[in-house]
Amino acid sequence: MTTTSSGKGPAVGPGAGSSAPVPGVDGAAEADAGNGHAGAETPGAGPGAGEGVETLRRENGAGPVGVTVADPAGAAPGPAERLEVGGPVMLGQIRRTVKVSLDGTEVRVPEGSTVLDALHSEGTPEQADTPTLCWAPNMDPINACRVCVVDVGGRTLAPSCARKCEDGMEVQTDTERVRHNRRMVLELLASSVDMGETSADVQRWMSEYGVDPERYGPPAPPAAAGERDRLHAGHHHPPDGATRATVDQPVKVDNDLYVRDYARCIMCYKCTHACGSDAQFTFAIAAAGRGFDARIATENNVELPDSACVYCGNCIGVCPTGALKSVAEYDRREAGEWKPEEETVTTTVCSFCGVGCNLELHVQDNEIVNVTSPADHSVTHGHLCIKGRFGFRHVQNLPEV
Ligand code: SF4
Ligand code: SF4
Ligand code: FES
Repeated sequence: MTTTSSGKGPAVGPGAGSSAPVPGVDGAAEADAGNGHAGAETPGAGPGAGEGVETLRRENGAGPVGVTVADPAGAAPGPAERLEVGGPVMLGQIRRTVKVSLDGTEVRVPEGSTVLDALHSEGTPEQADTPTLCWAPNMDPINACRVCVVDVGGRTLAPSCARKCEDGMEVQTDTERVRHNRRMVLELLASSVDMGETSADVQRWMSEYGVDPERYGPPAPPAAAGERDRLHAGHHHPPDGATRATVDQPVKVDNDLYVRDYARCIMCYKCTHACGSDAQFTFAIAAAGRGFDARIATENNVELPDSACVYCGNCIGVCPTGALKSVAEYDRREAGEWKPEEETVTTTVCSFCGVGCNLELHVQDNEIVNVTSPADHSVTHGHLCIKGRFGFRHVQNLPEV
């Protein structure tokens, strides 16, 4: 646990400003370890609001910035371990439990848990490593990608991120059928989408599941700018059979804050949900078109500055593929100066207003290249406004003293 490093919980929790080591109420302890941050393993020893911050190094720097993901492999200390080291134990809401079998091992989980929740909290490291793309710890299940499927009996496989545990349910996570389905999801996506900027986990899953997109033949030529945006449902041209269809197209750069690189879009719908009812309630973007021609678009396909977008960047924060990224990151990548392996992450509290959002400042070459917030933070739930997300720029332009 790296509360000391991040100061996420205490900074805005009941212990804010207090000298006593009081934990955050938002479960920050679990998320910290899962994020791979280096730091002291002392529960509840984090700085209070306004205290100093420490600089952290990202271990998993290959992929998009995204939100801080709660420890999926269960490596963080649970209540029993916290009790052992004399730390505080947070009691959650009391719920009935249901009994489920995970690959033959019976466990009990709170009623209402999804299968993925059960795999994360009670499963082995291998079971907790269930691949996900459209799931995020700070969003309602979207149930779009189906890479997380498990066998719970019956005709079809079930998406573990959305299927609720039922008493007596028998879950199989590693059958040939499950592995084949996961591989096909990853392979068909990789055959048509540029997955080169997905996280290290996604890259590892593609390797472990034996994904081979090249077997579908060479890629078809990229679409011209705007070509895919003009496609109409019912007017899809079948592929030529010699090449594999892709969503390759030029990057949309129409504002100073973030770019939309839809050649990397897997249509996971995370951005539309973050823009809509999951976080922002702006509804500036939605899916347009059908089938392979489906794409994310603004209303009437206007450029972003003419749309309802308020530039909160919450869509960037949840995008799992790098399709949405800050202009700062895009420019650095284009210039060959993107150095995730050297990136440090400094946690602090946003100073633009009094809400107290925790920020993670991602710094490369002494420049803030991205700003995120922890997914499990009780104020932000991983989401920010335009000031927190992009207001850092003035720091780079302060006059010399
Ligand atoms: S920046 Fe915010 S308002 Fe604009 S599209 Fe993304 S989520 Fe919606
Ligand atoms: S832009 Fe990103 S978040 Fe939105 S649907 Fe595409 S991959 Fe998902
Ligand atoms: S992660 Fe479960 S359906 Fe996408």
